Amino acid sequence: MDSFTEKLERAVFAFNFDDLMLLPGFSEIRSSDIRIETRFSAHISLKTPLVSSPMDTVTEAKMAIAMAENGGIGVLHRNMTPEEQLRMVREVKEHEPSSKNATVDKDGRLAVATALAPTDLDRAKVLSKEADALLFDVAHFHTKSILESAKKIIDSTDKDVIIGSMGTKEDVMHSVKTLGRVDGLRVGIGGGSICITTDVTKAGSPTPFAVSQAADAVAELDSKIPIIADGGIRTAGDIALVFALGADSAMLGFGLAGTDECPGEITTLDGKQYMEYRGMGSKGAREKRLVNDRYADTGGKKFDEGIEGLIPYKGSVADVINVMNSAVRASISYAGAGSIQEMAQNARIARVTGRTAKAEIKR
Ligand code: XMP
Repeated sequence: MDSFTEKLERAVFAFNFDDLMLLPGFSEIRSSDIRIETRFSAHISLKTPLVSSPMDTVTEAKMAIAMAENGGIGVLHRNMTPEEQLRMVREVKEHEPSSKNATVDKDGRLAVATALAPTDLDRAKVLSKEADALLFDVAHFHTKSILESAKKIIDSTDKDVIIGSMGTKEDVMHSVKTLGRVDGLRVGIGGGSICITTDVTKAGSPTPFAVSQAADAVAELDSKIPIIADGGIRTAGDIALVFALGADSAMLGFGLAGTDECPGEITTLDGKQYMEYRGMGSKGAREKRLVNDRYADTGGKKFDEGIEGLIPYKGSVADVINVMNSAVRASISYAGAGSIQEMAQNARIARVTGRTAKAEIKR
């Protein structure tokens, strides 16, 4: 065994968003011609590389419809009964697609994914007939008992199955080898804007690091499983950065929260408008008791792994997505690439050692 000093000295760099930037590269095409088509899972393609997170202040039917209409996809949260979730799947399916960019199933209806616990075979049976993809929604997927129950669900369905969350190459290699069929990977642990998992437990895997680890695992497995980067993504640049590290799409909680399509009401405080945004491990989200198994059952009293609060109201999600898409194209262009796939191949990344001070301007 190494000495403890060697163990410490061999600590890996688990880079986070603020540690990195994209280096500029030679660009041959106009920003508006940059292609941002991608894959969400093995059988679901997207025109917009954005996925709305399965959180109860972000994705219900209205958000899932708007995401699919605008070329992305929504993952319905699971803090509700299977019957309520199925009703929302049907609401999405009954909505007539009206945009040429819409994400649709083989019958031309809007596509939708649903979150579920990897232990919940009953819910899987209810949802699997009508939803396009099942996403296992737990904070730490790579455990013996979860792999065992996940395998039963995977064997029971022909729909795309996305596993997560995962943070290391070993997590991905072992999970994929054990399960056989995996159609998507959700990666990044503890990096979400409302997460306090890493503060409380000291465990986690920052999203840029987790993405690079997962992408290396996928390459080593000689597979093409799409990677969804999740947690802490705030700007278009963060999205372009995870593409450079091997991600195929970006999952957003905070980035889409506070829009008209989120569940919840607008609150006015001191003349400013706000909406609620909360972690699925927060006290409020846990009160319904349907998502408590997202986090480890330690046998003792549950502790909070997320926070809740108000964030500024942002207007319509279509506007947020449009701005995000054009800024992502700009980022890709700066990095000298022409598509998400070229970002993975060509974009160069730098470590940041300091930032230029911004001028202090009175506004
Ligand atoms: P952003 O930064 O987009 O992150 O708001 C959203 C992601 O955060 C995860 N999530 C949580 N993680 N405690 C956690 O540790 C929580 O209460 C919590 N709720 C959500 C989740 O992966 C989501 O997509």
